[in-house]
Amino acid sequence: MGVAVDEPLVEALLAAAPAVAETPAAVQQAEVPVVRRRGARSVTDWIREAERLAAECATIDDLARAVGDFGGSPLKATCENTVVYDGTPGASLMVIGEGPGAEEDRRAKPFVGKAGQLLDKMLAAIGRRRTENALISNVNYWRPPGNRNPELDELAVCRPFVDRMIEITRPKLIVAAGGVPAVSLLNSRDGIMKLRGNEYTYRTPGGYIAALIPMLHPAYLLRRPQDKSRAWRDLLLIEKRLRELEA
Ligand code: URA
Repeated sequence: MGVAVDEPLVEALLAAAPAVAETPAAVQQAEVPVVRRRGARSVTDWIREAERLAAECATIDDLARAVGDFGGSPLKATCENTVVYDGTPGASLMVIGEGPGAEEDRRAKPFVGKAGQLLDKMLAAIGRRRTENALISNVNYWRPPGNRNPELDELAVCRPFVDRMIEITRPKLIVAAGGVPAVSLLNSRDGIMKLRGNEYTYRTPGGYIAALIPMLHPAYLLRRPQDKSRAWRDLLLIEKRLRELEA
C-alpha cells in the first residue's frame, strides 16, 4: 500500500530548523587531541578481532554487547558511550548514518539530536518510524572528538559489526544517510552528490544482499535548506523502492 507523502511537512520543518554552526575543520582538530593508542595490536589485528566477535553474534543484542566490549577504536577513549542502534530490528528499512554526535553520545542512541529529529520527520513523511518499521544505526559507534569525520581505520574496525548487523536483521533496503556511510559502504571514489539518486546492491561478506540508496544527511540539510528538493527526491525514491521490495 502506498504511503501519502507530505512535502509541506518536510518543508516546514526545514524552514523552522535553526542553522547549525559550521566549525572549520582546522579549528575542531586543533581544539581536541586525537587519541591514537591501541596497545600492541595493529589495525589489522583489531579488524580480525572485530570479525571474530561479530561472527559469534546471533542476535542484535549480542552484537550491541560485543561492540560495547570491543577495544579496537581509539575513539572510545574520548567519548562517553558506545552508540549501536535504535529502532526496530527486522524492519525492511535500515538507515545507516555516519556516527554519534554530542547528543547521541550523551544518550547512547543514534540520531537523537537536531539532525535525528529531522531524520524522524523525513522518515515519517514516507510512513516510517523507528518504533515501528525502521532500524537506525551508523558506520561508526563512537563520537569523534570535536565531531570530526571518522577516519578510515576507525570505520574499518566497525565494519565487521555493521555487516553482521545487516546479516542478523536482514533489511530489504539500506539507506546510507550522508557521504561518509555512502562512500564507505560502497567503497566509492564518488561523493554523495554523485551517488544519491541511484540504487546500488550491498553484499555483506556473509553473502546477504540488500538494496542500498544513498541520501543527503539531515545535518547537511539543516545547513543547506536550499537542497531540500534533492532530499525530497531521495525520499520519494526510498518510498517507491520500499513499496516494491515489500510487495
Ligand atoms: N549523525 C549521524 O550520522 N548519526 C547519528 O547517530 C547522529 C547524527
